[in-house]
Amino acid sequence: MKFFVDTAEIDAIAELNDLGMVDGVTTNPSLILKSGRDILEVTKEICDLVDGPVSAEVVATEADDMIAEGRKLAKIAPNIAVKVPLTWAGLKTCKTLSDEGQMVNVTLCFSTNQAILAAKAGATFISPFIGRLDDINMDGMDLIADIRQVYDNYGFETEILAASIRTVNHVTDSARIGADVITAPPGVIKKLADHPLTDKGLDAFLSDWAKTGQKIL
Ligand code: E4P
Repeated sequence: MKFFVDTAEIDAIAELNDLGMVDGVTTNPSLILKSGRDILEVTKEICDLVDGPVSAEVVATEADDMIAEGRKLAKIAPNIAVKVPLTWAGLKTCKTLSDEGQMVNVTLCFSTNQAILAAKAGATFISPFIGRLDDINMDGMDLIADIRQVYDNYGFETEILAASIRTVNHVTDSARIGADVITAPPGVIKKLADHPLTDKGLDAFLSDWAKTGQKIL
């Protein structure tokens, strides 16, 4: 399973990247706003830091403008995945750019039918939003499972990028279902290491070690 980090904060990406936990990065207009950075500058810095795909999102709503924005974003670095919304204009942009050999991440996916359209348009990644479905009392994980089944039924090669991940359980469940990638905020990825029995066990070992009076270094 690949881990993408869902942020435009360079320090947070670098910290996890040093640990080998970053297979790619996703950004969106809200995350660019939060970073306070210029989209072209910060995206270039992220691409220089991380080897894997870095999603940068278009903001136009008409296909011609989206395609132009996507081509401009793609020039930032070879590892850019142009992110487009799941609209007909976004799908047209996906088809055009993927035919040109460009990685495309189709975002804001909330149904299996939308995911089928993205695969047929040649998307590299489809991003179903788990947390936002949970927010409206639907089960985001059901969508991941459904898309997994349908993609496998037909051999679609589009990778399922489980997005809008809010909890560590979303990560576990996505892994069980077989999502190809999860993208999560740095805080969620860091919480994956937490377990109270690990903390308790370590406290006990350190307390006993102190009683031995020994040193390793
Ligand atoms: C994914 O690519 C999106 O940037 C992100 O996962 C959205 O998450 P949110 O619903 O928590 O904003």
